[in-house]
Amino acid sequence: MIEISPVIMEWLSMIARWLHVTAAMAWIGSSFYFMQTDLKLKHGDHLPQGVQGEAWQVHGGNFWNMVKYTVAPKRMPDVFTWYIWESRITWLSGFALLILVYYMQADLFLIDKSVLDLTPLQAGLFSLVSLLVIWFIYDGLCRSPLGKHDVALAIIVYIFLVILSYAFTQVLSGRAAVNQIGAIVGTFMVANAFTVIHPNQRKTVNALLEGKPADPNLVKKARQRSIHNNYLTLPVILLMISNHYPLIYATQFNWLIIAIVLALGPVIRHFFNSRHAGKGSPWWTWVVTAAGMVAIGYLSSLGPRVLKTSAVTSKAPTAFAQVEEIIVSRCSMCHARETLWPSLAMAGKGILLDDAVQIRRHASLISATAVRSNAMPPGNITEMTAQERQVLADWLATTASKPDRDTPVTN
Ligand code: HEC
Repeated sequence: MIEISPVIMEWLSMIARWLHVTAAMAWIGSSFYFMQTDLKLKHGDHLPQGVQGEAWQVHGGNFWNMVKYTVAPKRMPDVFTWYIWESRITWLSGFALLILVYYMQADLFLIDKSVLDLTPLQAGLFSLVSLLVIWFIYDGLCRSPLGKHDVALAIIVYIFLVILSYAFTQVLSGRAAVNQIGAIVGTFMVANAFTVIHPNQRKTVNALLEGKPADPNLVKKARQRSIHNNYLTLPVILLMISNHYPLIYATQFNWLIIAIVLALGPVIRHFFNSRHAGKGSPWWTWVVTAAGMVAIGYLSSLGPRVLKTSAVTSKAPTAFAQVEEIIVSRCSMCHARETLWPSLAMAGKGILLDDAVQIRRHASLISATAVRSNAMPPGNITEMTAQERQVLADWLATTASKPDRDTPVTN
């Protein structure tokens, strides 16, 4: 493993993340924009031949008239604006982040030895190879005879992803497993654009420039992948930000939570797609979404794999000294002003847990990360035991709910 200073790692990861989020915004923004414009097109007799519809829009104080040709205008323009690099940069920067966060800090974020005892090399290879293999399986499904049946294909791909979610949570740390599914689905989307949508568009344009007719099959195939991307966008966004939510990724039903998220994203998209197309507002989608969110909340409340936290034992109140001892031996090395963990530039997320005041102050964060979930210690690297978590749970159930409550600390 290459040794890079933790400060440099931190900055590289910040730059990659900044780029990743920016590129993803540009990509998803333009894709939502075109989807919506397409669905809102109005037909009319005044439109020239070959025009499917037009949309009038107001933006930046100006009026815009978007016109969609099927398949192309009579005289092809000399210059086009292609939307190609947004998706590619999103993937490349995301891959850089995967390396920086999960592969180079595998012991913290990729591996959880209580799930499976892997070496960083094994875990990294597993993540990387599965990313590629799964893309080829998905691509094969789309190209197979199943690809002719949109609904059947969608259902099979969904079931496939749910099985994968379960499988990954049995191999990698919860956080890495959720991220991996996000990366896999994100890879579907980028590779859909890279290997099908853009090449097919280019072939169509070239044929038209040569005065030949466009191949409707190419257009159809690109459209299918485009629709997949449209419905996959929302789940990917949630999976990618899930690392801020230990209750999502580090609780025992994390795989089921992923399954619900993968189903809810398309349901919400359906609401907006229907509305933009002027096909009414399917309000039932919000009822389903609310039910799904309640289910996620409930599942995440069931606690981590190793320990059920619901039981408040009737023992005498836990002595704070005991709590302090646990935190000092399992957490403080990474959550102190001077961290003792070599790969950390500073305390994890800037959160200090090195004295009684800080421990009390962060009670609810300790609850979320080490009792209600097992997100911390990362990969259970300091080998915190179930009994120790139970001691924290007892303390939180009795003492921590008293006045000196936690104030949200993110700095
Ligand atoms: C090996 C080092 C290490 C140990 C041990 C460790 N942490 Fe952390 N902790 C981190 C890192 C790194 C982060 C930042 C994670 C990230 O970037 O998402 C973090 C983040 C956190 C956060 C913020 C979570 C969030 O989502 O904002 C809390 C709370 C936390 N740790 C509590 C604990 C508790 C409680 C323990 C002991 C049970 C503990 N940590 C043990 C390294 C550690």
